Amino acid sequence: MPVRLQIQRRSWRLAGVSALLGMVSATCIAAATPEPSLELSHAEREGLIFERQQTMSQLQRDGELLGNIVAGLAAREKLGEATRAIANGARDALRDYQNRVPGGRSKPEVWSNNADFMARMEAFARNAEAMAQAGEAGNIALVTERMIEAMPCKQCHDIYREPKKP
Ligand code: HEC
Repeated sequence: MPVRLQIQRRSWRLAGVSALLGMVSATCIAAATPEPSLELSHAEREGLIFERQQTMSQLQRDGELLGNIVAGLAAREKLGEATRAIANGARDALRDYQNRVPGGRSKPEVWSNNADFMARMEAFARNAEAMAQAGEAGNIALVTERMIEAMPCKQCHDIYREPKKP
């Protein structure tokens, strides 16, 4: 089972998260979803949600750094590092969402319209990789050009992310 393998590979990270979340598991209400990861415990599911949120938060930081570099507000020497970090983050996000775990601020449409969602994640990962190659070559003009397709953050959030609760 791919999900199992992934859990095992990442269990060292999840162990801490699971311990943390063990205390809230009593309040868990299982959400219905097509092909849910039934064999996962509540704590494991919460750990996977936490993990994809961490991936996204890191993307936010790396995206801000890249924005500052392109705007001339941060050192241009960091272009390769920043674009590579975004490409890695996009790949991580794609991998994170291979676990079908409803919850967090992922809208139900992530699962009910999963083919479209995953196609967007794949395009994100592919285009961010192309941007990282330009970044590592030090080509800021090409990075700027590729950024549009490599950073489809808002387009996806507008459709698939719940707004923050007040
Ligand atoms: C294909 C869809 C998609 C793309 C592309 C995407 N995101 Fe997200 N993002 C989501 C979803 C869905 C969530 C909600 C995660 C959850 O809570 O389950 C999210 C959550 C977040 C969060 C909140 C994390 C938290 O701690 O709750 C941030 C910040 C974020 N994304 C930043 C980014 C940035 C920056 C990019 C682009 C570089 C990006 N995202 C690209 C779908 C996407």
